[in-house]
Amino acid sequence: MIVSLIATIDRELAISQDGRYPWDIPADVARFDQLTHGHHVILGRQAYFDRYLDQGATALLGRRVIVLTGNPERYRPILPPTVELVTSMQAALAIAKAAKDTEVFLAGGSEVYDLGMAYADRLYLTRINTQLKTGKIKRFPRWIDHRWLVQQTKGPYLTEGHTYSYQELVYTPPKDEGRIRVRTKTRATHTAVTPAESAGE
Ligand SMILES: NC(=O)c1ccc[n+]([C@@H]2O[C@H](COP(=O)([O-])OP(=O)(O)OC[C@H]3O[C@@H](n4cnc5c(N)ncnc54)[C@H](OP(=O)(O)O)[C@@H]3O)[C@@H](O)[C@H]2O)c1
Repeated sequence: MIVSLIATIDRELAISQDGRYPWDIPADVARFDQLTHGHHVILGRQAYFDRYLDQGATALLGRRVIVLTGNPERYRPILPPTVELVTSMQAALAIAKAAKDTEVFLAGGSEVYDLGMAYADRLYLTRINTQLKTGKIKRFPRWIDHRWLVQQTKGPYLTEGHTYSYQELVYTPPKDEGRIRVRTKTRATHTAVTPAESAGE
């Protein structure tokens, strides 16, 4: 089973602002829907609340949704019955594996990405060419991206209204070390770089 992280980030890896998802890019939502359809999607409780709670049972149809929380008794009554609650990342991944899913998606927020990097086989990143500067910013983990391989780069595309451009990137871990390295849970030191830099150009 491939473990993939999927995120939309700005130039400095920001994923949220003041507890809210900051982007409105329909094509990016469509990409997320297409990639994750038919698979398990693991979310932190806060990400689920921010992005999907108000959609009720219609949220993320066609996917099996697993929400990570330290307090399942509290949140069980609020969430649709189709959402599974777990208290650890290992338990979440075990559900997807037991169901023989070929690819499981860790879809945020920042705490789930932090936990998930230790298991990542693939990163799907939509990188927006802007930088959030105000409010409380949460970020995607700083990983050693110049050592990861850029498997695919698409774009830049312009957003509707042309507020900013964005690229779609797919990374895989270094072949020589792969998951053994990332499973050590050593936190990487790294600064965000351009795709060209990360490809070693
Ligand atoms: N840009 C993107 O692509 C993207 C994607 C997804 C989400 N987001 C944004 O990210 C923000 C949320 O991120 P966040 O970092 O605040 O929260 P988060 O990662 O979504 O969720 C954090 C919560 O997950 C639970 N949790 C975390 N680690 C756990 C563990 N080891 N065991 C059990 N439960 C655990 C806890 O839930 P309890 O508090 O219930 O115990 C914790 O409060 C939102 O604004 C959302 O819109 C952005």
